[in-house]
Amino acid sequence: MDMISYGRQHIDDADIQAVVECLRSGALTQGPKVAEFEQAISAYVGVRYAVAVSNGTAALHLAAIAADVGSSSAVVTSPITFVASANAALYVGARPVFSDVDPETINLSPSGLVHTLDQHPDAKVIIPVHFAGLPCDMVAISAAADNAGAVIIEDAAHALGSRYSDGKMVGSCAHSLMTTFSFHPVKSITTGEGGMVTTNDEQVYRRLLRLRSHGINKGSDEFLDQDAAFTDGRPNPWYYEMQELSFNYRITDIQCALGITQLAKLDKFVARRRQLVARYDEAFVDSKLIRPIQLGQRDRSAHHLYAVRIDFSAAGISRAEFMTRLRERGVISQVHYMPVPAHPYYRRLGFCSDHYPNAQAYYRQALSLPLFYDLTEKQQDTVIALLINLLQ
Ligand SMILES: Cc1ncc(COP(=O)(O)O)c(C=O)c1O
Repeated sequence: MDMISYGRQHIDDADIQAVVECLRSGALTQGPKVAEFEQAISAYVGVRYAVAVSNGTAALHLAAIAADVGSSSAVVTSPITFVASANAALYVGARPVFSDVDPETINLSPSGLVHTLDQHPDAKVIIPVHFAGLPCDMVAISAAADNAGAVIIEDAAHALGSRYSDGKMVGSCAHSLMTTFSFHPVKSITTGEGGMVTTNDEQVYRRLLRLRSHGINKGSDEFLDQDAAFTDGRPNPWYYEMQELSFNYRITDIQCALGITQLAKLDKFVARRRQLVARYDEAFVDSKLIRPIQLGQRDRSAHHLYAVRIDFSAAGISRAEFMTRLRERGVISQVHYMPVPAHPYYRRLGFCSDHYPNAQAYYRQALSLPLFYDLTEKQQDTVIALLINLLQ
């Protein structure tokens, strides 16, 4: 049986050819494709600078370092996200703080955020997550951040190709210091593994370039040790200098070659996802048990996920049983996400998901249905019919 997964990549001949050409070129890493991909993303989202890295988690980690969070401060994020958004705070020794989501958008609730910031005056960074591709209310969130003296790192792992209400693209950093993306295969475009940080701030950009590669300055910035760097006023040809501790978070040219050809298809990918979302919405319009999230805000999202709430208790079936029955019939669904504070590691740190009632209520009913570029209408009709039948 061909399984219908909840998400998957679309790879065409142009992608394969680009990767093969890169392999033949000899420049596998630290070559020209990295800058080419960064420029393509910058031009697409309308931002000054982009730094490509090995994955979306590395992008968040480096963004947290570049934001100078500091070990005695707090980072506010959403409880309904992948663990990486909150882990970025822990990586830099800061304290994650969760602020509850809005029950309709499943994005950070702006009024809830104001309250959270009042209670945590040590919050220096806010990481809003554009859940399922729907951009958060960034006007309200940036006003709250300004008031609290905090900076914003947008976690846009779900939202390459999404637009804010003012029409600007997510990634333009119109409302934030930095934005991060992921290019994992289920995302808007893929590089296998991959990520990106965008910013309009030149100092942040230069630092991100160093942070991506061990904190080493290879000469694009001023050397700290001028005596060691120069002979007779000329830069020493061997010289490079590690200026702060960092990691190897580089991405390869092979991955970036794929990213470039994938990006050329992004608008087509988003348009197809939007059509499929409209078909699901239409199919569930009269359902009492299935309630899609983010309804009425479809035109701004890149539609990373199609997430619904299902009233499993009214239907008299557990979610586990429901997912098993779907899988037995060839359909793989998923839950995005168990609230981060409910994970054992976070519980050990003293967090409790009961403190985020909207997140908890959403989690109890959440299910993500298959949504990807190659999903056919016939396959989608199968998914819809299965859902309706299993809930009868
Ligand atoms: C919201 C969110 N943030 C961050 C990440 C991390 O991205 P990556 O898997 O590329 O490290 C993901 C990936 O699933 C994500 O969904």
